Amino acid sequence: MSVLGKTLKKAIKKLEKESLSNVKNDKYRLNYHLMPPIGWLNDPNGLCYYKNEYNIFFQYSPFEVNGGLKFWGHYKTKDLINYRYVGVSVYPDEKYDCHGVYSGSTFIEDDKMYIYYTGNIESRGDYDYINEGRESNTVLIISDDGINFDNKKCIMEMKDYPDGITNHIRDPKVWKEGDVYYMIQGVRRNTKPNNKGAAIIFTSEDKVHWKYLSMINSKEDFAYMWECPDLFKIDGQYILMTCPQGVKRVESLYENIYLNGYFIIPEDNLKNDITVNEFFILDKGFDFYAPQTFIDENNNRVMIGWMGLPDIDEEYANNTKTWQHCLTIARTLSFKNNKVYQTPHKSLEKLRKNTLSVEDIKNNNINSYEVLIDVKDSKDLQIIISEGLFIKHQNNKFILEFIGDIGKTIGCGRTKRSVELNTINNLRIFVDTSSVEIFVNDGSDVFTTRYYPLSQSLKIEGDVSYAIYKLDSFGIQIEA
Ligand code: FRU
Repeated sequence: MSVLGKTLKKAIKKLEKESLSNVKNDKYRLNYHLMPPIGWLNDPNGLCYYKNEYNIFFQYSPFEVNGGLKFWGHYKTKDLINYRYVGVSVYPDEKYDCHGVYSGSTFIEDDKMYIYYTGNIESRGDYDYINEGRESNTVLIISDDGINFDNKKCIMEMKDYPDGITNHIRDPKVWKEGDVYYMIQGVRRNTKPNNKGAAIIFTSEDKVHWKYLSMINSKEDFAYMWECPDLFKIDGQYILMTCPQGVKRVESLYENIYLNGYFIIPEDNLKNDITVNEFFILDKGFDFYAPQTFIDENNNRVMIGWMGLPDIDEEYANNTKTWQHCLTIARTLSFKNNKVYQTPHKSLEKLRKNTLSVEDIKNNNINSYEVLIDVKDSKDLQIIISEGLFIKHQNNKFILEFIGDIGKTIGCGRTKRSVELNTINNLRIFVDTSSVEIFVNDGSDVFTTRYYPLSQSLKIEGDVSYAIYKLDSFGIQIEA
């Protein structure tokens, strides 16, 4: 490790140790969602199952609660329920990543963990940071044990990328098909009059040397940048998940500042350029971005997202002013009816404790629970979570809405999200101290939101039957 790396490591460990008692007093600290020990968290990175353990890295700014210099923080878990925080694993300590170890992925082969990420450089000066002043390097770390990450190498820099793109290229995701390795990265093309987002694919025979292969573009102008691409086959269909920036807001369709979602890839061959059409939102709530998938020990494709968005910091309350953001629960993906479905990962059932009544929630101020609702008729359906947060079915729309003065307070800037939906058959809702994740119709639509309740209560109205389980907290051991 470099001298700079060693110094940063010492400083972060000290900071994390000091912060632990402080963050514990924050009533919005979550019980079964991963958070940074201190400072800021954004994208999940490098998700993988390696040597009998899941590795969950994340974009981490330990020094700045509103984001800043990015590191990779690192959790390990055998069961997705009990976690060890093992500290920072990747430091911005080389000249090719000195302004941030940005997002990336891991690829496992021959008992080795290959980490690919973007080394960010932003020069000081009067630049637009689009075509100049910014460099994006692709960096590889080969680790023999998933603990030591010293073996760093810059494998691609600006001159190695194809023509026609700005300096925004990042977030490599790597996979293998047959004997060929593939890497996909998100780009901002320098098309005129508007820049256009796209994803580009590279191939390699040795995981180190990469050659540009093809580009995935949208038919219409759709966003100026696509962040965090993830390309995979699920139930026989190629899907490109990505996060487009710069899409005009459309009610009940594209509502967040930046989008999360997927394109269905209309071909089976990645060698030629591909044009994609409709973009589908994965999570229609207020707080979901930069999801990444991995394969779990049972061969399921599982997704975890960042329960937050960039550039809307004022919508996140921060009592202790020492930490910000969390990851979502893990969700198993499937593809049917031409659509991606999300189901809460099976491991979460292990958190279930006793069953509860709605009165128990109010009387005992219970802040971590799961509700399973069978809807017989969604006409008069109304669910109120912690007074102020409403779920309704109105005019053929599923609606999640913060209502009234209390809604304003607990929503912290959030208002309404909705989707066109004829019927609601069932709902599965996960409530934590300051988050709600709602799976509609077996995960055909999902809504995730942060919220800042004053006290806990739950009302379920309509022609429904339901069961409520109290949920246990994650076991989290901090190796600070
Ligand atoms: C998405 C993102 C990525 C980038 C990372 C930096 O939230 O902007 O594109 O690699 O965050 O933290």
